[in-house]
Amino acid sequence: MTSDNDEVFFKWSPEYSVQIKTIDDQHKVLVDILNRLFVAVSKREGDKVIAGILDSLMSYTQTHFTLEERLMRQAKYADLESHMQEHRMLMEKLDALSKKYLLEEKPIYFEMLSFLKTWLKEHIMGVDQRYSAALRDVGFSADSWEREATAEFTAMSEKKKWWEMWK
Ligand SMILES: [Fe+2]
Repeated sequence: MTSDNDEVFFKWSPEYSVQIKTIDDQHKVLVDILNRLFVAVSKREGDKVIAGILDSLMSYTQTHFTLEERLMRQAKYADLESHMQEHRMLMEKLDALSKKYLLEEKPIYFEMLSFLKTWLKEHIMGVDQRYSAALRDVGFSADSWEREATAEFTAMSEKKKWWEMWK
């Protein structure tokens, strides 16, 4: 997604990879949704559009976190609890942001979008890369989780049709 001057708000970089394709794909979708939100806010696309994108962002993020936590649980990853705590804190932030916008009718500021971008970037390159390295170290294969997660995500997407809200 690009803005008028072709500058992408959040550009994916190979250094963000956690070397698990399904996780990388989901992270890329999160980046796409954030970029879509950035464009909508920049162009003042209107409440209905922005509310739809926010809803997509919330439900996609929640599903992604749940699946990622399941992977760490399957691998008996030691730092699962603190990782889950980071996920919970971000969901609370997102929740507060959308409530402010939808209920209190406060505008979305670029500072908030920058915060989300920085959070995601640092989370991926910090704790996400840490757990994926730990899984590799113990020789845990994410293959069966990847198949399961992909099937589940597809089924959920068909039910929620979240992609229609932001594409
Ligand atoms: Fe994570």
